[in-house]
Order: sequence, then structure tokens, then C-alpha cells
Amino acid sequence: MYGTNQSVVSEFVFLGLTNSWEIRLLLFVFSLFFYFASMIGNLVIVFTVTLDAHLHSPMYFLLANLSVIDMVFCSITAPKMICDIFKKHKAISFWGCITQIFFSHALGGTEMVLLIAMAFDRYVAICKPLHYLTIMSPRKCLYFLVTSWITGLIHSLVQLVFVVDLPFCGPNIFDSFYCDLPRLLRLACTNTQELQFMVTVNSGLISVGSFIMLVISYIFILLTVWKHSSGDLSKALSTLSAHITVVILFFGPLMFFYTWPSPTSHLDKYLAIFDAFITPFLNPVIYTFRNRDMKVAMRRLCSHLMHYRNILLMKCGTI
Ligand SMILES: *[C@@H]1O[C@H](CO)[C@@H](O)[C@H](O)[C@H]1NC(C)=O
Repeated sequence: MYGTNQSVVSEFVFLGLTNSWEIRLLLFVFSLFFYFASMIGNLVIVFTVTLDAHLHSPMYFLLANLSVIDMVFCSITAPKMICDIFKKHKAISFWGCITQIFFSHALGGTEMVLLIAMAFDRYVAICKPLHYLTIMSPRKCLYFLVTSWITGLIHSLVQLVFVVDLPFCGPNIFDSFYCDLPRLLRLACTNTQELQFMVTVNSGLISVGSFIMLVISYIFILLTVWKHSSGDLSKALSTLSAHITVVILFFGPLMFFYTWPSPTSHLDKYLAIFDAFITPFLNPVIYTFRNRDMKVAMRRLCSHLMHYRNILLMKCGTI
């Protein structure tokens, strides 16, 4: 790379969150629980939406897609972190690190655009109910999905293109439990001031931009509902409050992380845990288990499964 006498870093070492054995144990139990809970919760959503014909509508398709993204998203850093908690030497290869960064930015960007699509879907359903099926056609839905994936990929690639060529000659210590771009850039042995600025602008713009768009669309929906029919306000409010909660929980830590000038405290590490574990877990809880149609569908699915099980048992019994 740059100069021949520089040693090249081939792996990075995570410091993890803490040295205290008790806190590690607590963290281990906590993250294991939330990881499995989010995987199972999101899997249930995907299965229910896919198998129940009553839920074959844009809103639920988008929701199921969000669940898929959430499952992949929390599988990027969580399993490694959980395995590493009690290890003395927590290492990750250079390309492992790049892979973590690539997928977390790609999926994060995709999720943001998907949340906007979901807000648009609610806008059409609440403000233009008669045209809902024509506006949110299957094609439009697919178009939203493809757009969100492409946006996420571009957002991620644009930043990494510059990073893979940087020289790393040590130190190779990450004061964290996963790879993130701002910390990686600070480890490069060249001046990365401009790149850091680019990352802040890129990630900051996409998160703050989507957040503002979402807030505006929710305000718009609320105003429209309020003006037209006061009776529907409470129903709209309950749907929207779910969306708004997810949006704040998802974007709050992210925006703090990428727009705060210098992460001096350990706060950002703990916020990262929040985004890695709690948000993917909360999505199913907030969107689904509070939703009547979804609950009915899950009950239907359960009784179907019981029915098949009984048939199977009967068959086994007669053989
Ligand atoms: C994602 O959305 C597409 C298009 O609406 C839909 O066909 C697909 O089934 C959804 N994916 C899941 C896992 O439900």
C-alpha cells in the first residue's frame, strides 16, 4: 500500500462495552433475549402476512418487507457481539468490518425509504380512501420496494468506495462492539477529514432528510383527518402513533450518532445497542401486536396449524 515499511492492519479489535463481569452477563442475557425475540416476532409477521390472504394488501406487504429487513439488520452485528461478549480477544477481519458497515448502511438506508413508503401508504389510505387501490397498486408497491433497495445500496456504496482504498497501519482498536464508519475512518493512517465530512453529510442527510419527510407527512395526514372527519381522528391517531413511535426510536439514535460533532461519551455505544436490538424488536410489537387485523390473522393461522396437526396425529394414529 502506501510505503513499504508500514505494517498493514489485517484485523480490528473490539474493546467491547465493559470489563465488568456482571454487566457482561446482564448484557449477554439482554441481547440474547432481544435478538431471539426480534427474530421470532418478525418471522411471525412474515409468515402471517404471506399465508393469510386477508392480509394481502400494500400496507401488510410493506410491513412484511420491513420485517425481513429488520431480521437481516439485527443479524449483522448482534450474533457476533453476543458470541464475543465473554471473549478476551474480540477481533474482526478487515473485510468482515467492511461487510458489517456495508450491510448496516445498505439496510438502514433501505429501511428509511421503506418507512417513507409506509407513511405514504397511510396517507393515501386515510386521506384518499376511495382511490387507495388504484394509487397503491401492486406495481407501485413493488416500485417503492425497488426504490428503497436501490437507495440503500447507493447510499452504502458511495461511502465505502472511498474507504476500501485507505491505508490502515495501526492502531486497530475499536472502542465499540461493531464496526462503524466514523470510527473506522479515524483509524486510517492518512488524513480523512474530508471523508469524515462526506460520511457525516451522507448519513446525516439521509437520516435527517427522511425524518423530516416523515414528520411532515404525518403532520399532513393529521391535519387532513382533523379537517375532514372528526370521527376518524382517534383511529387515525392510533395508527399514526405507532408509526411515529417507530420513526422516533429508529431515527433518534441514528441522527444523534451521525450529526453529533464528536462522540466523546460512551453514550453512542449504548445508543447503538438500542438501534441494533430494540428497534427490530419493537417494530413487530408496535405495528403488529396492537393491530386488530393482524391479531385475527395470527389466530386464524394458529387454528389452521392446530387443524393440520390434528389431521397429522389422526393419520399417525390410524397407521
Ligand atoms: C414485499 O413486498 C412485495 C411487493 O408488494 C410482496 O410481493 C412481497 O410478498 C413482500 N415480501 C414479503 C416477505 O412479504
